[in-house]
Amino acid sequence: MKISVIGTGYVGLVTGTCLAETGNEVLCIDINEEKVKQMQNGIVPIYEPLLDVLFDRNIKEDRLRFSTSLQEGIDHGEIIFLALPTPEDEDGSADLSYVLGAAKDIGKLLTEYKVIVDKSTVPVGTSDRVKEAIANETTVDFDVVSNPEFLREGFAVDDFLKPERIVIGSSSDRATALMQKLYSPFVRSGNPIIIMDEKSAELTKYAANSFLATKITFMNEIANFCEKVGADVDMVRLGMGTDSRIGKRFLFPGIGYGGSCFPKDVKALHKSGKENNYDFDILNAVIKVNDIQKKILIPRILSHFNMDLKGKTFAIWGLAFKPETDDIREAPALYMMEELLKHEANLKVYDPEAMPNVKRKFGDQLQYANNMYEAAKDVDALIICTEWSIFRTPDLDKLKQIMNNPVIFDGRNLYDVKEMKAEGFNYSSIGRTS
Ligand code: UGA
Repeated sequence: MKISVIGTGYVGLVTGTCLAETGNEVLCIDINEEKVKQMQNGIVPIYEPLLDVLFDRNIKEDRLRFSTSLQEGIDHGEIIFLALPTPEDEDGSADLSYVLGAAKDIGKLLTEYKVIVDKSTVPVGTSDRVKEAIANETTVDFDVVSNPEFLREGFAVDDFLKPERIVIGSSSDRATALMQKLYSPFVRSGNPIIIMDEKSAELTKYAANSFLATKITFMNEIANFCEKVGADVDMVRLGMGTDSRIGKRFLFPGIGYGGSCFPKDVKALHKSGKENNYDFDILNAVIKVNDIQKKILIPRILSHFNMDLKGKTFAIWGLAFKPETDDIREAPALYMMEELLKHEANLKVYDPEAMPNVKRKFGDQLQYANNMYEAAKDVDALIICTEWSIFRTPDLDKLKQIMNNPVIFDGRNLYDVKEMKAEGFNYSSIGRTS
């Protein structure tokens, strides 16, 4: 099939590349000329495992092309994906200006029937607004479909190629049939394509992300309570997670959830509730608890250093909002660093992928190390913010030798508490006291 993807952010690029992988002819459109040139020259603009391999192969086989021309995109695809940003507005709602702007432009350029697919995360009712924006500009027949994505950064290619489910919100049989044909190669394992109305599809995305954020937040509160009563959250997690109704995943406590999705989507659903006279009490609490959780280690660090961090040097391991990505949007590490800088501490930071993004944001406020040990050299304490695999098995003897003090604040529970104590570390983690 011929497919166009408008917007080559992380969702658009993964969608376009993976659809090319199953033999479709994909044309990706972006207004950023420099980025389009880069991609035409075979350079992937984001870090996402496996994406480079598929990207390379499909460009070589001429199934994946790039252009800045929206007209070309509209003419090319029988299905046109909108994968545009929906950033958080000042009031917490989703800013739809990119999506509705593109819909209007598409309306002006349509010459024959097309299916317009909304892949962006959008509030309930947006597909009606997209339809209206297109219809205002044209008399040509078209359909609008909502097809939310459930890709995790770091696993996006795998999630796209082997989805647990595909959700399609459509009220047109013609559009539904085209979407089923497009996605059939991805569900050979028997996982479902779930067809529903557009509003339910739009809400499914927000509900899924908000539920996961709530699950994590619940565990963060259980962890905080474990510390009060001397219980071990790792044990509680195991005890709970083996109940298949609860499930083992997304029960890991830490210094809060971050990223470009959960924080934005929880706030947007909360706002959307308000707009429809519904107060999501539970989401209110999730937002509040997560804001506190991102800074949960700060009072501990302050207390360890007698409330004075001025001139103290800290190593920060892990800056990305989670492992396997260079994305630092809403990363708990950023909140941690901002707080420590306010207290006039010196910070030596290291992340396997996110260093360039952090440098752009923090400039010379931080010292940038070339590896995890260089960051830990001569520091008063080490703070772990992201659970990259490389941090899981450090050379503890070496660490003790190079650090000024063997003090670790672990925001991701990477090590065994007893083992760390036995090794002579002053080790503090989340929800585990002994
Ligand atoms: C999330 C969802 O998992 C995807 O299904 C969804 O498609 C995506 O948002 C999106 O809306 O585009 P992502 O933001 O890439 O994916 O990352 P997650 O792996 O879900 O992690 C989000 C945050 O939760 C991270 O900060 C992570 O450290 C934190 N987390 C996750 C925990 O603190 N504990 C856990 O047990 C799991």
